[in-house]
Amino acid sequence: MRILQATPADAQALAEVHVRSWQAAYRGLVPQDHLDGLDPAARRPGWERWLAGTAWPRQGTLVAEADGRVIGFAGVLPARDDDADGATVAEVAAIYLTPESWGRGIGRALMDAALATLTEAGYREAVLWVLDANVRARRFYEAAGWHDDGVTKDDGSRGFVLTEVRYRRSLA
Ligand SMILES: CC(C)(COP(=O)(O)OP(=O)(O)OC[C@H]1O[C@@H](n2cnc3c(N)ncnc32)[C@H](O)[C@@H]1OP(=O)(O)O)[C@@H](O)C(=O)NCCC(=O)NCCS
Repeated sequence: MRILQATPADAQALAEVHVRSWQAAYRGLVPQDHLDGLDPAARRPGWERWLAGTAWPRQGTLVAEADGRVIGFAGVLPARDDDADGATVAEVAAIYLTPESWGRGIGRALMDAALATLTEAGYREAVLWVLDANVRARRFYEAAGWHDDGVTKDDGSRGFVLTEVRYRRSLA
């Protein structure tokens, strides 16, 4: 397994990993018809736009690759919350692995690489948002030094409401 910066050529693979990870991780947490309707081809243009906006090391995507295939990714950018100063606070916008890669230390390696990059980029703190019901991810974050900072939000952008919890950690 190796971790490297994503390139625009990874758009399709990233869309596939994202959809497969959503479908497995959010079963029972998100309406099933939404999960069934997720389509990597439809999400590919969004990935192409995101990858074109890479501004390494302050904004970008790391991929975990095994046997030449993308098996996971972590995306980072300046924090987008109104109460955060994006000059000093970063956001881990997403970290997703293919379901068969879970629980083998790959997420930990990706997170370590992302945090090292953010520290090197000059950020002092990082935040992320996680579904309140995503117990596996919350346990993972807490083991990796993140804590729930008490801020929550309801995201209704998909036609149903997802409650998310903000986590935070120092990069010192
Ligand atoms: C959440 C996710 C990225 C975690 O990656 P992972 O590779 O499965 O996790 P790891 O194998 O690296 O972590 C394994 C264990 O080490 C722990 N761990 C992780 N980082 C650690 C650290 N820095 N120090 C000590 N322990 C750590 C984890 O808590 C976990 O312990 P557990 O098995 O007792 O729960 C992955 O499971 C995933 O893709 N899940 C689905 C998508 C998702 O929910 N993404 C988050 C959206 S907000």
